[in-house]
Amino acid sequence: MDQVYAIELYSNPTPWSEKIFHKIIESRSLSFVIKLEDRVIGFCMANRVLDECHLQNITVAKEYRRQGLGEFMMDILIKRMRLADLNSVLLEVRKSNHVAQSFYEKLDFERLSERKDYYKTDNGKENAIIMHRIL
Ligand SMILES: CC(C)(COP(=O)(O)OP(=O)(O)OC[C@H]1O[C@@H](n2cnc3c(N)ncnc32)[C@H](O)[C@@H]1OP(=O)(O)O)[C@@H](O)C(=O)NCCC(=O)NCCS
Repeated sequence: MDQVYAIELYSNPTPWSEKIFHKIIESRSLSFVIKLEDRVIGFCMANRVLDECHLQNITVAKEYRRQGLGEFMMDILIKRMRLADLNSVLLEVRKSNHVAQSFYEKLDFERLSERKDYYKTDNGKENAIIMHRIL
């Protein structure tokens, strides 16, 4: 968890508390980490909400980005979803996070809607884009 949290701190403009990570892990979780030897280089936090997977957070350590690891983690999540009999995945992403939106679009996610003032920023609030994929 210390290693996951270290990646979260520099990756998320308003990092989650460790308590949130623990809550997700404890609640019908499909979460996992990717390790290279003993080092965590990526994590995926997701859980089951009713008959759907809610992808809460997917992050790759800075120096390993753009090498296919995010896509690899999404493949693992989809395998886990199939094992759990889930066939749709929902997520929220910051409107300003164009990299993540490109990533999800490449992986066949579609924009469903926009949720106003969903995220905190340093100087106010920011909308979320809701994205969805049916397997
Ligand atoms: C989003 C994130 C997880 C993607 O992981 P990644 O390992 O770098 O992504 P991949 O290498 O698997 O890239 C897959 C595709 O996503 C898109 N993509 C990834 N990074 C991109 C970038 N910087 N700019 C544009 N498109 C990008 C591309 O289509 C890419 O395919 P390509 O390399 O064949 O062009 C990573 O950038 C990250 O950790 N960002 C910070 C945390 C974050 O914002 N998470 C999402 C929260 S909702």
